[in-house]
Amino acid sequence: MNIVRVDSYEEMSKAGARYIIDKIKANPKMTLGLATGSTPKGTYQYIIEDHKQNGTSYQQISTFNLDEYIGLSAEDPNSYHFYMKDLLFNHIDIPLNHTHIPNGDTVDKEEECVRYEVKVKEASIDLQILGIGANGHIGFNEPGTSFHSKTHVVALAESTREANARFFPSIDDVPKHAITMGIASIMASKEILLLVSGDAKSEALERLLSDQLPSEDFPASILKTHPRVTIIADNEALMSTGITR
Ligand code: PGA
Repeated sequence: MNIVRVDSYEEMSKAGARYIIDKIKANPKMTLGLATGSTPKGTYQYIIEDHKQNGTSYQQISTFNLDEYIGLSAEDPNSYHFYMKDLLFNHIDIPLNHTHIPNGDTVDKEEECVRYEVKVKEASIDLQILGIGANGHIGFNEPGTSFHSKTHVVALAESTREANARFFPSIDDVPKHAITMGIASIMASKEILLLVSGDAKSEALERLLSDQLPSEDFPASILKTHPRVTIIADNEALMSTGITR
């Protein structure tokens, strides 16, 4: 895993955007895997800024998001459908029919998982953007998820619901389930860019960078076995790791 150390969230966001934009310039038809949450917001802002200033085009790009809550409609401000439109898609020139997010608002969730997995596999993701949960989750693959998992329905860990409660009126409003790409689906990406910021992630990052063997009780640890992973992390996130410039 290649580690890029930066000073701050801002610098992580700039470096993340630069990394993605350079890949898009080299391959304007690429398939991009996208993440939500707080971490990539700044990266998306810089992508939008670059699109407006330099005209980087997304007309031929396809995207696949990692996950979506079950039970929220696409119009719900807390859904990841809404997040993606609001924070990225509405501000660049990507055709919306090139963007893919699991549908968490459907009756047959198992069928939706199969449909999404087939699409992801057909598309073959060139670069997957990832965040990491304080408990080591990637996507919504919580500790204990099989490394062989494909797109599936998950029960969210209480710690994840608590971490995400800040976006909802109360913890009771945070969905209990989600659809997520599985760990095997994520690992099939040709390349992975992991963005990590802040001291809340420092223990998780320390564990990821330790010499512990991959273990299903810490989902992100599988990334050690992927041939092309770049981690852009800020000082606070790297604080416990002893990594200095
Ligand atoms: P965050 O979430 O970016 O909101 O911290 C990351 C994650 O849980 O994967």
